[in-house]
Amino acid sequence: MKKQWWHRTVGYQIYPKSFQDTNGDGIGDLQGVIRRLDKIAALGANVIWLCPVFPSPMVDNGYDVADYMDIDPCFGSMEDMKELIAKAGEKGIRVLMDLVANHSSDQHVWFQEALKDPFGEYGKYYVFREGKAGGPPNNWRSIFGGSAWEPVPGRENLYYLHLFTKQQPDLNWENPRLREEICRIIRDWMALGLGGFRLDAVSHLKKNYDYVDLPPDGPDGLCLAFEEFNNVEGLSDFLMEMKEKAFGPADALTIGEYDEMKPEDVEAVIGENGSFSSVFDFSHTHLNVNFPEWEGDTVRMFNAYRDRLFEAQRVVAGRGLLCNFLENHDKDRCIDRFLAKKDQNRYSVRMLPVTNFFFPGIVFLYQGQEIGMRDYPKKSMDEYVDAPTHAEYEGLVKRGLTPQEALCRINMNSREHSRTPMQWNDGPNAGFTEGKPWFAVNPGYVSLNYEAQERDPASLLHFYRKMVSVRRRPDLEETFIYGRLLPRFQERDGILAYERRDEKNRILVIASALGQETALSLEALDGADAVRVKEILLNNYEEPPVFEKSSASQREILLRPWECLVLALQE
Ligand code: NOJ
Repeated sequence: MKKQWWHRTVGYQIYPKSFQDTNGDGIGDLQGVIRRLDKIAALGANVIWLCPVFPSPMVDNGYDVADYMDIDPCFGSMEDMKELIAKAGEKGIRVLMDLVANHSSDQHVWFQEALKDPFGEYGKYYVFREGKAGGPPNNWRSIFGGSAWEPVPGRENLYYLHLFTKQQPDLNWENPRLREEICRIIRDWMALGLGGFRLDAVSHLKKNYDYVDLPPDGPDGLCLAFEEFNNVEGLSDFLMEMKEKAFGPADALTIGEYDEMKPEDVEAVIGENGSFSSVFDFSHTHLNVNFPEWEGDTVRMFNAYRDRLFEAQRVVAGRGLLCNFLENHDKDRCIDRFLAKKDQNRYSVRMLPVTNFFFPGIVFLYQGQEIGMRDYPKKSMDEYVDAPTHAEYEGLVKRGLTPQEALCRINMNSREHSRTPMQWNDGPNAGFTEGKPWFAVNPGYVSLNYEAQERDPASLLHFYRKMVSVRRRPDLEETFIYGRLLPRFQERDGILAYERRDEKNRILVIASALGQETALSLEALDGADAVRVKEILLNNYEEPPVFEKSSASQREILLRPWECLVLALQE
């Protein structure tokens, strides 16, 4: 594999609205990111992904872009953005923006012009279709609920397509002029010194335009027709064009939000000459220990998690690099997602991130993950602000859940849990703002906050810093990025373990989700006779790991509850 600068990515995702406010309006801003760059550097991250900061009516918190070449005043100005790119660069940190090009905002001038003349030049930037039998063109369901078609105001029998909210009309990628506009936008941003982009909803750019009705998947007669608008034949032509005309020449890091990559497409999507640098590994994102199917059984779900991760890695091995992560702005917090309440403790919360942090590929952390921020369940739906969350709630009630049951389900896995303001200190509003926060701070901030953890060398924050420093250690880094991944002890309940090997290093990673001690025999490893621990790179207990020794080697590890270990082994 040809080495690229971005292979060394340890990324940090920022949800700007909730990160740090500096002007007292209750909304995080770019100056806030600049203020906290020291913290990001101290964590050891070398790439930042900023969720959208473009001008936007904020129906979907910036994922409804009204102007791709400016900054929303609530976040600051173009000057602030340039300052951020420059100051981050001084610390060795590259900045990624979020390219939302499957749809724009309905307030974008393109769409406003299109509404005036749906059959004119800008009408061709969107997807307008005639309805049928007095209703929409077909029965596609929007990903955020309801019909994917919205009647065009003032027009008889004309609709536009929106896979997300109706304020997010889909762009028409069949139109070469639209594609050229997007490439120009990418080039202009890259010219400002950006590191690249995360690409929102990118597997939806191509649709199957037969527009036939599909068998309904609900009582409303609609169908979430993923096969008609996700990863559809011909998508890669659009993606390759973007790469050739915009990303490639700028040497951009591009990470696709790409759902369900088919095994046969790995080379085309993330291979050396593929459309993107990497795509997120979403194989674990539908798991939640609080869902009825898992009955709060952390170990049983952990086994499924482990098997999915290893399978995802097996599929791409030697062909492309996945982007490994646990949290993002669309998921609830990982501690609450993976660990039943009774299993959350100082050891288990350290064990969790180790599970995939030493995998091949690149890695990403999400703001607040490094201090173990938690979900913030609400007492009433009024406390949620996200339109799709409300739409999901309505859908649950329509399916027969009582309001209380529906709220309970939303509390279980709302994406808004990850959007509560960053907990910087125990002062007013957790140090996030001097104004009124746009979204309520999790009251847990009094004891769980950044400054308290920074003062405590035994804190989770310091564990994360150590974890990143191990991954980036010059003599180990290449082994972690490119080395072989060898799953170990996969038959053992509650154990996720793997070796990373190349000609320079042999590293063993072990994570236990068991609440009791267990012994692992190192004889199960290749060349067991010679197994000797050279160095303990990372562990979550203060005391060193316990080995049963024979004369020649350390043959058995007595793992303590929730223990995790990263060990350099002698060849
Ligand atoms: C995926 C983004 O991550 C999510 O936050 C957003 O709502 C949708 N795409 C629509 O842009």
